[in-house]
Amino acid sequence: MTNPPSDAPSDAPSDAPSDAPSDAIVFFGATGDLAYKQIFPALLGLVRDQGLHVPIIGVAKAGWSLDQLKARAADSLSQHASRQHGNGDAGATQRLMDLLRFVGGDYTDAATFTQLRSALGDAKRPLHYLAVPPSLFAAVAGGLAGSGCAADARLVIEKPFGHNRDTARALSRLLAQTFPEASIFRIDHYLGKEPVQNILYTRFANSMFEPIWNRDNIGSIQITMAEDFGVQDRGRFYDATGAIRDVVQNHMLQVLANLTMDPPTGEEHEAMRDQKAALLKAVRPLAPMDVVRGQYAGYQSVAGVRPGSSVETYVALRLFIETWRWAGVPIYIRAGKKLPATATEVTVHFKRPPRETFDEIVPANSGHMRIRISPDVTIAMGVRVKLHGERMIGEDVEMILTEQVADLMLPYQRLLWDAMRGLGELFGRDDIIDAQWRIIEPVLDDVTPVYRYAPGSWGPAEAEALIGPDGPWREPRLMAAKG
Ligand code: BG6
Repeated sequence: MTNPPSDAPSDAPSDAPSDAPSDAIVFFGATGDLAYKQIFPALLGLVRDQGLHVPIIGVAKAGWSLDQLKARAADSLSQHASRQHGNGDAGATQRLMDLLRFVGGDYTDAATFTQLRSALGDAKRPLHYLAVPPSLFAAVAGGLAGSGCAADARLVIEKPFGHNRDTARALSRLLAQTFPEASIFRIDHYLGKEPVQNILYTRFANSMFEPIWNRDNIGSIQITMAEDFGVQDRGRFYDATGAIRDVVQNHMLQVLANLTMDPPTGEEHEAMRDQKAALLKAVRPLAPMDVVRGQYAGYQSVAGVRPGSSVETYVALRLFIETWRWAGVPIYIRAGKKLPATATEVTVHFKRPPRETFDEIVPANSGHMRIRISPDVTIAMGVRVKLHGERMIGEDVEMILTEQVADLMLPYQRLLWDAMRGLGELFGRDDIIDAQWRIIEPVLDDVTPVYRYAPGSWGPAEAEALIGPDGPWREPRLMAAKG
């Protein structure tokens, strides 16, 4: 790089990372589950849609060969890349295979990173993706630093980011020794989902929502993340994690933040994350009385689960935000495995009319906004309209604002593409992650009882008592049928 003439304005301190796009992708954990299910399909999408043509180096334990990695990638694509996301595009698949390289070795062995350095060739701005268990983060970060692979590099790091607030802070301190905050990309794949971004877009691209988006008009908010499958082959990981850490600390709180944060101010590129951080810092830390945990019957016989485990596979929560906008508005979140449906859906309930005007009692919650995040994508407004006839009585209808079968771009594809270009908005920032842990920390582990529930039910009955008169919980499957 040539130095600017001494009188020319310098736009960045010399030690700041450059904005140049990443010129190599390194992914640790290349033979693992995440690579198989998410990363190979995302890479195929990047090759096909974004014209990715940089070396892609898979790193994993010794004993694998490049040919084996390619076979694994091909298998992954046949299982996990849909036609819509690039599978069947033989040209793109071949280009991806041509870009793949392999480095094998132990993550605690400096020789692995020396090999990686030479595989990187003249790449100047590599992106390192740590798709490995958290217990290996420190070893990999240290290896990258010690070998020169970290210089001017970007680091993408998978969740869970820490096991609690203290360990998350310790991890941040460790990474900060090698990578500036602007070069760290903490993945929460929910942020790469189109409808999660559409929450912000719809709120802030229309002026009609902002005046009613507050405690005067909104009575409560519900978020349900239901999955009809169990913990599958992830027993060991899940039993050390539980639903609160697995999906509430990250995905659910990010959705909550998009729903409730203030509009960003100014043009500064951190404006969006600043508002998100401010909102999350204002959420009242959970108290035991605001939490119901459940575990589906049969969980304890899953391989990897400890006998007598009290880890939750279901949680229902009531949250409050301590701001003038949201004071007193309960926000209910429930997330669970082995429920009757697989769907993630948000409902914002508007308050009832202050008095009945007609010959009927308007049902609570008929006025609402419904945002379905998966598997299909919908934004709908629920309103009450008059039924034809002499009487002034009505029915609840929904106006569908947008509807799509599914997300067109894979979340991991979108996020990796952003990270390669240094765009951090769709990633967790140090203070955001810390605020998320602060909210859930008081109810982690065995602070509250865990109730058994039958697979295929909507979780323990105690969750009904939690929502009380703000209920019932809305069932995503039934609303979809209606919508
Ligand atoms: C992951 C969790 O982060 O998100 C899983 O570890 C969960 O337990 C998954 O099933 C859900 O993601 P999606 O995109 O399928 O809703």
